[in-house]
Amino acid sequence: MTDAPAPALSPLDEQAMTAYIEQSIANIESAHDLAELKTVKAAVVGDSSPLALANRTIGSLDKADKPTAGKLLGQARGRINAALTAREELLTAEAEEQMLNSEKLDVTTVEPRYTPGSRHPLDLLMDEVEDFFTSMGWTIAQGPEVEHEWYDFDALNFDADHPARQMQDTFYIDGESVGAPAGEPSNLVMRTHTSPVQAHVMVEQEPPLYIACPGKVFRSDELDATHTPVFHQVEGLAVDKGLTMAHLKGVLDHFARAMFGPDATTRLRPSFFPFTEPSAEMDLWFPQKKGGPGWIEWGGCGMVNPNVLRACGIDPDVYTGFAFGMGLERTLMLRHAIADMHDIVEGDQRFSQQFGLTGKGL
Ligand code: DAH
Repeated sequence: MTDAPAPALSPLDEQAMTAYIEQSIANIESAHDLAELKTVKAAVVGDSSPLALANRTIGSLDKADKPTAGKLLGQARGRINAALTAREELLTAEAEEQMLNSEKLDVTTVEPRYTPGSRHPLDLLMDEVEDFFTSMGWTIAQGPEVEHEWYDFDALNFDADHPARQMQDTFYIDGESVGAPAGEPSNLVMRTHTSPVQAHVMVEQEPPLYIACPGKVFRSDELDATHTPVFHQVEGLAVDKGLTMAHLKGVLDHFARAMFGPDATTRLRPSFFPFTEPSAEMDLWFPQKKGGPGWIEWGGCGMVNPNVLRACGIDPDVYTGFAFGMGLERTLMLRHAIADMHDIVEGDQRFSQQFGLTGKGL
């Protein structure tokens, strides 16, 4: 705001009155908004303004001077009020325009209503796993998630009374399995591992076979920090002439490095699976292990049991094979230090978004 007009004003001093008018109009014109204008208005024409004070002195003037004073004051008030009105109209129009601009809504613009989703890290990991195996010339195989009991257990050399077949581990499906190679009708199950895909491939194709199968598997586990009833595994199978455990170890080390970086390596510990002989637990060398670097269990593996080759129509005297399987949730959790399975299964986008679209972000 510019200077206030001079405080004392004589109603007979035409020059002072003109100066007052001009100074008032200048102040009015320099008011930037309605609030400022209000302050200027009070100062130039308000009750305690020099103009109002001058007005109050008229009564005590000589009678002869009163008309002149009245005229001068009237003109001053008229010109100042006109300037106030004009400025007020302009500032009001400006304020309205500003408001309209700030509240402008283009109803023709299409705005995304949802944040775009992101791919689930498990999906990204499966892509990565598939890329790894195809880069070695292996084929990606798939099998059904609702499986004949024969493929899930019998073909893989599980005894009829093997504990894995029990209801507390396996989801049985209403209906009868018809058409599995053993001929006899049996049960349908949700596959409990990806190993039955081995059997499908061996039944349907001639060696040499080099296949990997990432996929969903089902077990009647409660969801907790480390278990989920629906999870993912990747299965590997090679059947050819002259394959040994050395080939298996080479593939596992190579795979471990692809998943966990150049320092990763694996070690095998004797174990038992019905479908491999010999069988081994596979440990991963894990530098980021809690409490310091160490070995951590990553999956199972072994040489394909001759009974399995035979059940699937492959001559074990001609061919040998190796197989392995590991959990993908576990792989993801180890790789990215994910502490709780709930994060993987609950589908909160904020979790998935951390992995970006390529999965290499973390
Ligand atoms: N099917 C096993 C499981 O679900 C994992 C496994 C172990 C797969 C050894 C294999 C293998 O191919 O050779 O725990």
